Amino acid sequence: MIILGIETSCDDTAAAVVGSEGTVYSSCRASDLGIHSSFGGVVPEIASRQHLSNLLPVVSLALRESGLEPKDMQAIAGTYGPGLAGSLLVGLSAAKALAWAWELPFVGVNHLEGHLAATFLEESSVSLPLVALLVSGAHTLLVEVRRPGEYRLLGQTRDDAAGEAYDKVARMLGFGYPGGPHIDEAAKLGDPKAFLLPRAMRDFPFEFSFSGLKNAVRLTLQSQPHADVADLSASFQAAVVDTLTSKLDAAIREVGAKSVAIGGGVAANSALRGAVKQLGVTHEIASYVPSLAYCTDNAAMIAFAGSWHVNEHGDGSSSLDLGVAPRLPLA
Ligand code: KG4
Ligand code: ZN
Repeated sequence: MIILGIETSCDDTAAAVVGSEGTVYSSCRASDLGIHSSFGGVVPEIASRQHLSNLLPVVSLALRESGLEPKDMQAIAGTYGPGLAGSLLVGLSAAKALAWAWELPFVGVNHLEGHLAATFLEESSVSLPLVALLVSGAHTLLVEVRRPGEYRLLGQTRDDAAGEAYDKVARMLGFGYPGGPHIDEAAKLGDPKAFLLPRAMRDFPFEFSFSGLKNAVRLTLQSQPHADVADLSASFQAAVVDTLTSKLDAAIREVGAKSVAIGGGVAANSALRGAVKQLGVTHEIASYVPSLAYCTDNAAMIAFAGSWHVNEHGDGSSSLDLGVAPRLPLA
């Protein structure tokens, strides 16, 4: 079964054509980082307007690159939450309109389930149960995956998401948006022990908090305005990665997991990727680290997650009345 997926939950306008057995025929994305970068973050109103102008060209490109036509599609999947309401509305409306016009089943997809699906897209037989850490600009959560569609939330952040902390600290250090890749690069040249920064929520094995860490960097910069940027980047990154890794470690034990995976934009982080691979070795379980293109927002993961819910006869499809759900939980 072949599915067209559409994703517009934040600032990336993305479309992809994916087979339910995992073939990615095309995966296209337009992002206007230049525009948002000059504001130091995503401006919701601008993101919605950019989606409006980018959406149809990106969908056309995804179809063209796939070498397929609308008549070859068996369903259309679109993200309906969580995310920015105005951004979601553009992609969801387009997905529903195309499904109606092409007389195809439509399925609404949870963006977080999409990030989880990225692992399954690249791995044909994932060992279950899986412990997954979803870390993006808006979310940090730890989840047990018993099988696709069956999730148990183990814990999440009480304040900032890991990616949000990266972006805010990057701004303090004078880097552009998104900040994660800049800190990741700078950290490679710094000493992770140069500054002692807090590892929060030690007494709550599956809960996260990053606002204190962010504030500790702010206070460090206030007292030492000429602190070495590489050292501070490395020390911040060590605090984030230590925290994420120790909670993943506890979750693997709690669940008796057969595998561990990461997903979301922060899963592109080189130190986190290395630490998760090491966790797999330590626990003698499989570790899945998605390709960079499937860590950050993309529509292939949305199309693939859609294929878990709908079949070519339309069983499991969503109503065309489905609205956006900006705060949609995973489980
Ligand atoms: O999943 P994503 O593309 O969008 C959301 O759903 O939020 O994640 C974007 C986040 C940003 O906060 C960005 O700074 C972070 O992912 N990010 C990284 C890296 N690449 C992207 N964080 C740390 N290291 C990276 N290499
Ligand atoms: Zn995302």
